[in-house]
Amino acid sequence: LGNNPKTLSPKYFYDEAGSELFAKICNLEEYYPTRTEIRILSEHSREIAEVIGAGRILIEYGAGSLDKVRILLDALSNLVAFVPIDISHSYLMAAAENLRQTYPDLTIRPVIGDFSQTFKLPELPSPDAPHIAFFPGSTIGNFDPDSAKDFLTSVAKTVGPGGGLLIGVDLQKDVSTLIGAYDDAAGITAQFNKNILMRINRELGGDFNLERFSHKITYDVDSARIEMHLKSLTTQDVNIGGETFHFAKDETIHTENCYKYTLDSFDAIAANAHFKRHGEWMDPQNLFAVLYYVCEN
Ligand code: AVJ
Repeated sequence: LGNNPKTLSPKYFYDEAGSELFAKICNLEEYYPTRTEIRILSEHSREIAEVIGAGRILIEYGAGSLDKVRILLDALSNLVAFVPIDISHSYLMAAAENLRQTYPDLTIRPVIGDFSQTFKLPELPSPDAPHIAFFPGSTIGNFDPDSAKDFLTSVAKTVGPGGGLLIGVDLQKDVSTLIGAYDDAAGITAQFNKNILMRINRELGGDFNLERFSHKITYDVDSARIEMHLKSLTTQDVNIGGETFHFAKDETIHTENCYKYTLDSFDAIAANAHFKRHGEWMDPQNLFAVLYYVCEN
């Protein structure tokens, strides 16, 4: 907030309340990515499993509720182990325990950590089996192109030469569909955005008045990204743990970028990390893509 322009990282959205609001977003009519990706994974699970191959180690980045991966677990043959990584300890442990009920014979080794940082894989039964990274949800869209490159480079290091990456990518489309997905009629995304201010109030002793900020969504065609902001409706001072932050009227806090890709523009990002596309699955309207890359290092 001390920067000009003011920014906050989207990773701070996801406390308990924020995670619940995000789950609500995923069920909104306007928010097409979640249901579209699930449909793509379900309808093509056999073909996806064939391209990935048998006897793999599957690593899920930012695993969350572990719902989507069940579609893969049902389709993949002779999986050696499943390694979900998530920053939220209690959430991940509960989800992994839940998964164990359905897949009692599968080796599940959760890792608590920030997947955007380097982490160590746990001891695994056949450590030489090919590694496959699974990164659904178009969370990659939160990274700007440079950090997407760095992140994919670290994924390439983890899976190694011949390893794979199955990734969900939201596609470029008409602007009104994109804006609608981030500015829903029921105002759930606005609540999700403002929750970051509630968190600052609660956890850092802030005095943000949520009614003096509005949810603002723009789409920048040149960078092909949705921008989410919190706009100050008045000139005001906000106190956070003894520090004062001044807001001009209409000044914003930039809280999130969500980059939208074409297959070509994403191939270019992946190529930076020596990933080459070996498979692509889309819905009939080309809203969303599930892409499979192999590391050629
Ligand atoms: C979790 C990053 C994929 O960008 O669509 C949804 C987050 N923000 N509505 C997205 C989000 C506002 C979401 N990701």
